[in-house]
Amino acid sequence: MTGRILLVDDEDVFREDIASLLRHEGYVCEAAASGAEALRIAQSEAPDIILSDMVMPGISGAELVRTLAAACPETPIVVITAHATVETTVEAFRAGATDYLLKPLVIDDLIRKVERCLEHRRLQAELRFLRKQVSLAGGGTTIVGTSRPIQAVRDLIARVGPSNSSVLITGESGTGKELVARALHAAGSNERAPFIAVNCAALPRDLIESELFGHMRGAFTGAMRDKRGLFELANGGTLFLDELCELPVELQPKLLRAIEQQEILPVGGTRVIRTNVRIIAATNRVLRDEIATRRFREDLYFRIAVVEIALPPLRDRREDIPMLADFLIARLNDRLKRRVNGVAHSALRVLMSAPWRGNVRELENVLERAMLLTNNEIIGIEDLPAELAGTLATSDPSDDLRNAVRAYEREHIRHVLATTNGNREEASRRLGIDASTLYRRMRDLAL
Ligand SMILES: Nc1ncnc2c1ncn2[C@@H]1O[C@H](COP(=O)(O)OP(=O)(O)OP(=O)(O)O)[C@@H](O)[C@H]1O
Ligand SMILES: [Mg+2]
Repeated sequence: MTGRILLVDDEDVFREDIASLLRHEGYVCEAAASGAEALRIAQSEAPDIILSDMVMPGISGAELVRTLAAACPETPIVVITAHATVETTVEAFRAGATDYLLKPLVIDDLIRKVERCLEHRRLQAELRFLRKQVSLAGGGTTIVGTSRPIQAVRDLIARVGPSNSSVLITGESGTGKELVARALHAAGSNERAPFIAVNCAALPRDLIESELFGHMRGAFTGAMRDKRGLFELANGGTLFLDELCELPVELQPKLLRAIEQQEILPVGGTRVIRTNVRIIAATNRVLRDEIATRRFREDLYFRIAVVEIALPPLRDRREDIPMLADFLIARLNDRLKRRVNGVAHSALRVLMSAPWRGNVRELENVLERAMLLTNNEIIGIEDLPAELAGTLATSDPSDDLRNAVRAYEREHIRHVLATTNGNREEASRRLGIDASTLYRRMRDLAL
């Protein structure tokens, strides 16, 4: 939040005086002398607050407010008026003003109102952010699977969830690390407690410290006002540090101290803030290697990995695939407004034998694609990507030879067509047959 103000007034002296005063106070202030100029700036600069005179030549105050409110519906508009009659004030509010100031301006009132509007906007943004987090958390924390490793994970969550201990979740990409973090949070605290997820790899390096711990106004260029950090936003709940290994090594002692002392020091601040935050972290790297190469501090590792939950790759628990597929299809049916009923036997065999380097997320993506492509209620082998179908090593023992050959021929032609992007000329050349034969085989095999 930078505190950009748009000031609209046709009186040159008044406008320039107020604008330089506001700039002196540390705000960015654009000044406009007419309604048209104000509108142009409002659209290109996205101000945080609009301060507007009510009496302008050529346009009524209410009309100006209405136009500005339509252009920037989220921006508070404070009108400045010399003659505050009940009628003009009511008119301004009807048009979309959020507050008013009387001329001659009392500077303290002006600054107070500007601060209050900015605070209000910041809280609104924060609230939107938190609501999004909460609704995501409400997306369900069911962990599907009956294999031994996944049962062990569920047991651990039930045992560790209600405590306040830090947890480190490890596992390949797409194995469900974030899901487990949300499940731990749901098991541990009341449902109103915040769950704040932050991806250490996605934050710009020079902003991570102020994002996590907040900063005081003036702490660095561009720090126009105090900003609360994610630690403070997560107070009373969980802070999920995703891709923990990407946290710059010079910040790791500060994180260690925040966890150990349960207090933080905002950038540029002089007073610590007490916090009560549970830390859950995730990584798809092997932390031991990172420690050996000094990219990760061992003391921080010990502090976070009080409990470690290692998620198994999907290929090590293939017996969970049918149940996962049913679960994911039901969830996708809701989201995609489809009514897919399940997976055909042959397609399930493909799903059970695929390598799944992207784990459950890849399975979800494959199912989503199939559900969008298929015209049937059951996902068939033809709805799966060719490279997956090609991984099927074993044939169906209940097929007679003729059907087995047909099934193979069908798969092979499909695969070649996929690699030529559906170009039949090219596919027939690769298959060593002419195009009309290919066309006939495709019709016979219902391709
Ligand atoms: N055991 C499971 N039961 C149900 N859904 C699962 C399970 N494991 C993973 N998923 C689903 O798979 C998807 C990927 O999970 P998630 O985002 O938690 O993985 P991740 O390990 O954080 O991945 P990445 O390393 O790529 O960030 C999500 O949609 C999640 O709901
Ligand atoms: Mg993740």
